[in-house]
Amino acid sequence: MPTTANAKRKILVTSALPYANGSIHLGHLLEYIQTDIWVRFQKSRGNECHYVCADDAHGTAIMLRAEQEGVTSEQLIERVSKEHQADFARFGVAFDNYHSTHSEENRIHSERIYTALRDAGHISTRDIEQMYDPVKGLFLADRFIKGTCPKCKTPDQYGDNCEACGATYTPAELIDPVSAISGATPEVRSSTHYFFKLPDFEEFLKRWTRAGHVQPQIANKLQEWFEAGLNEWDISRDAPYFGFEIPDAPGKYFYVWLDAPIGYLASFQNLCEREGIDFDSYWKKDSDAEVYHFIGKDIVYFHALFWPAMLEGAGMRTPTAINCHGFVTVNGAKMSKSRGTFIKAETYAEYLNPEYLRYYFAAKLTSRVDDLDLNLEDFAYRVNSDLVGKVVNIASRCAGFVKKLGAGKLSATSVEPELLARFIAAGDEIAEDFEVREFGRAMRKIMELADEANTYIADKEPWALAKQEGREQEVLDICSVGINLFRQLMVYLAPVVPAMADEARVFLNLDSLDWHTRHDVLEDHAINKFKPLMTRIERDKIDAMVEASKEDIAVEKKLKEAAKGPLVDTPLADEIAFDDFAKVDLRIVRIAKAEYVEGADKLLKLTLDLGGETRTVFSGIRSAYAPEALEGHLTVMVANLAPRKMRFGVSEGMVLAAGDGKGIYLLEPHSGAEPGQRVT
Ligand code: 2FM
Ligand code: ZN
Repeated sequence: MPTTANAKRKILVTSALPYANGSIHLGHLLEYIQTDIWVRFQKSRGNECHYVCADDAHGTAIMLRAEQEGVTSEQLIERVSKEHQADFARFGVAFDNYHSTHSEENRIHSERIYTALRDAGHISTRDIEQMYDPVKGLFLADRFIKGTCPKCKTPDQYGDNCEACGATYTPAELIDPVSAISGATPEVRSSTHYFFKLPDFEEFLKRWTRAGHVQPQIANKLQEWFEAGLNEWDISRDAPYFGFEIPDAPGKYFYVWLDAPIGYLASFQNLCEREGIDFDSYWKKDSDAEVYHFIGKDIVYFHALFWPAMLEGAGMRTPTAINCHGFVTVNGAKMSKSRGTFIKAETYAEYLNPEYLRYYFAAKLTSRVDDLDLNLEDFAYRVNSDLVGKVVNIASRCAGFVKKLGAGKLSATSVEPELLARFIAAGDEIAEDFEVREFGRAMRKIMELADEANTYIADKEPWALAKQEGREQEVLDICSVGINLFRQLMVYLAPVVPAMADEARVFLNLDSLDWHTRHDVLEDHAINKFKPLMTRIERDKIDAMVEASKEDIAVEKKLKEAAKGPLVDTPLADEIAFDDFAKVDLRIVRIAKAEYVEGADKLLKLTLDLGGETRTVFSGIRSAYAPEALEGHLTVMVANLAPRKMRFGVSEGMVLAAGDGKGIYLLEPHSGAEPGQRVT
């Protein structure tokens, strides 16, 4: 691990690329804030540091979301990218470049890396069987298949695990599987897939893992994965797919996770071209630059196994370190939509200053992978007591006297050189904490210094001295020391609270608060008018934010429901001639009997009276009707539909119902209609 004492370092830093189909929330922000603090610290130290990110724009989920919204995938990702960038800007996350995985640079790098891997023999192909949606015409990932759990029989479970009993299974084992996209019954189809031969890199990965590129907790996890054995990785998806077509395989696309980390290269390439940076000097095999990826603990497999193996296989350098963090909890529990603790970045920023959150996260972050709890009580207490009560307080106690007694100018000589020297020297230890991502430790040291500064001022009581004649210079000297101490603290806090630091810089009348500037003590130096740099968190703002987050979720739910229509239903069918319509024999029927069907949790068995004739029809309306509620009611049936043999018996026709994903509604004629009447 490089030390902070090194000469100017070349550093490339990334945060994980957010998916282009969802909003940024507090869970995401932990990572971007952690990374941004580290990057700002590196820049403050004078290192050449580039921070890049991008939207992760490919994949089925994004393609379907665009379809749901009635826009193209390109339009969706364009819009979401703007929203993401606005959110990041609100929180002071200052990327040097924000790009997209759906970019020319990414296509080029993806093709290049894939081709290199293929030519070196690290790609294989084989046929695999998968569920296919015959209505939508696409292969279904497990999460797009729903059905009844084969173990506990709970309906409406996803294709790989049951939320009710926790069982895991393959989609083929689901009872009555349906495509969650169209509602159609999926078919099993075979197609050729492309695989990255991860086991080729086992020895390399074991060495790499043990060479200090990951945290100890992650190294242990990787060890478990090595023991379980590495598998080849399926990197292709069949059309239709929003992504890049594989160069030598028409109709096959790179799986979104193949080109996502390559997006780091693409975004950096884009920056290099704009700013004349030498891309290869960062990415060639023997590069002396450092590369750090900040990620969450859920995507370690991709970053600590696939990604270094891909780079190694393509003859490139591998990351200096993967810096992994845990998840955010709120008030000790997983972020919850119903409790209003699933808080979007935008909603937070409507109610509270983003720098409060930056400070709170910093105060609790370590270099480990542990989860971080945002306790809303503690949050308000900590920010108010530390930033407002300790740090800002120093400046606000001193500024007035400097204005009044020094006409806005600090004393010509510092009266506490030792105290000041200690504050300056502390910067080395604090820098070491920032360097190794022990931000919490750094914040504690900074707050200890703030306590010391406040104690100094309190002991000297400049406000009391100011009332005594002839002691003006003394008061000015004390307050000048106070302002100098405040300046040191703001140098150390600037990576964490950059907006507040910038206001402090203007107040202090300085060009920069970079780390090295702290050595110049401010003497005979004019400062500007003091304005409160940060106000206290008000508890009612936190409550309002929580309420607004509940509202966000309600709105989202409604939008989702509204969007379900076109996704679940087939679009309007092609026009037909009247004669074709006339072939359909629609009849009024009375539901004589309705019963549950054992083993089928979607169906009801209906006995229908056609005015003399009786028919049995199985209908998928169980979720909407209790059998006894239907008996005696009139409805409409297709009477000349060819009988269909089902698992539970033969269905002799079909009753008509409307359905839009929200509910099922049987058609019922106005009163006076008679069973057996033809519907025209
Ligand atoms: O888990 C996620 O949100 C992914 N979009 C992260 C991708 S990071 C990198 F590999 F692109
Ligand atoms: Zn189950």
